[in-house]
Amino acid sequence: MVPRVVFGRGSFNQLNDILAPKRKNAKAPFIYLIDDVFKNNIWLISRIELSYDDRIIYISSAEEPKTSQVDELVEDIILSTKERPSGIIGIGGGTLLDLAKAVSIMLTNEGESHEYQGWDLVKNPAIYHVGIPTISGTGAEVSRTTVLTGPDKKLGINSDYTPFDQVVLDSELTKGVPKEQWFYTGMDCYIHCVESLEGTYLNEFSKSYGEKAFELCKSIFLEGALSDVESQEKLMMASWHGGMSIAYSQVGVAHAMSYGLAYVLGVKHGIGNCIVFDQLEEFYPEGVQMFKAMKSKYNIELPEGICRDLSDIELDTMINVSLGLEPLWENALGKGWKQKMTAKKLRELYKKM
Ligand SMILES: [Fe+2]
Repeated sequence: MVPRVVFGRGSFNQLNDILAPKRKNAKAPFIYLIDDVFKNNIWLISRIELSYDDRIIYISSAEEPKTSQVDELVEDIILSTKERPSGIIGIGGGTLLDLAKAVSIMLTNEGESHEYQGWDLVKNPAIYHVGIPTISGTGAEVSRTTVLTGPDKKLGINSDYTPFDQVVLDSELTKGVPKEQWFYTGMDCYIHCVESLEGTYLNEFSKSYGEKAFELCKSIFLEGALSDVESQEKLMMASWHGGMSIAYSQVGVAHAMSYGLAYVLGVKHGIGNCIVFDQLEEFYPEGVQMFKAMKSKYNIELPEGICRDLSDIELDTMINVSLGLEPLWENALGKGWKQKMTAKKLRELYKKM
C-alpha cells in the first residue's frame, strides 16, 4: 500500500515541504518526470522549486510506456547525476506515473526493465518516489504495478517495491482534461470496478473498495458533469478505491483484451478498454449496459473497425498477448477458463472491434 497520501484542492502546494526532508544531500537531486502537456503551464510548473541539480524531464504520453523508454531514462539519469537521486516525482496520467515507478525501481536494480515484467521479480527496494495524478481513473497512483510494453509482451512490474512512497491527490490538477480523455480514463476506473466485483478472486477487502468506487462512478457518469469540482474530487477517490480493489483481486476480460490491442496497434489503455468493454455484454451484461448509458450521456463515439484490416499474424499476436495474461482470465472466468475462452472465440471478439 501507499504509506503516505495527502488529499485536497490545492494540496500540490505542499509538495516542496513534503520533499525537503527527503533530500539526501546537494548532489542527490530530485528528478521530476512531467507530462509534456504541462511544459508551458506556468500555473503548475512555477510551483515546483528546483534546487541544486534538480531536474525536470518532460515526457509525451501520446504512447503507452515502454521498457526501452524506461531503460533510456534510467541511463540518462545515471549519466547526468553525481549521485543516485534523492527521489523521482511523477506528474501526469497513468503513463507518467508508471514511468516514475519503473524508473525508481530500475535505478536500484541491475539489468533491463523487461527482465522484471511479471510478479515479484524485483530484488532491491526502489528509490523514494512520489506520484501526482493530473487525470483520474487509471489507479496507477495506488497500484502495485507499472504496466510496460516490452519486446515480447505488455505486462506490469508487479512488486512490493512498486507502489509510491507518497501520493498527492489534488483534483485541481485535473481541471483542464479534455472531455474524451476524461471519459476514457474515468471508464478505466469504472471497468476496474466491474471486473473486480464480477471476478472469482473477489474478497471482502477488494469488495469494500470496489463497491465504493462503483458507486462514485455511477454518480459521476450518470448524474455529474466534467466541470464540477465535486465530480473531479469524486473521480479522484473513485480512481484510488478502484485501484485498491484490483490490487487485492484482479482485472478481467476487458483488460486482458485491451492489452492485446495496445501491443499490436498501440491503442492507449483507457480508450482500448472502452472499445473492448463495449463488446463484452456476454461477460458483464449489467456493467456493459450501464457503460452504454454513460457513453450516450456524454455523446462519446468510439472508433470502429480497428481490427478489420489486421493480418492473420497480427491477430495471432494479439490473441497470444491477451491469452498470456492468465491471472486476468482466471479471475474473470474461473479455474476452467481455458475451456471457456479459446483463441477462436477471442478472434471472433476482436473481429467485432
Ligand atoms: Fe486499467
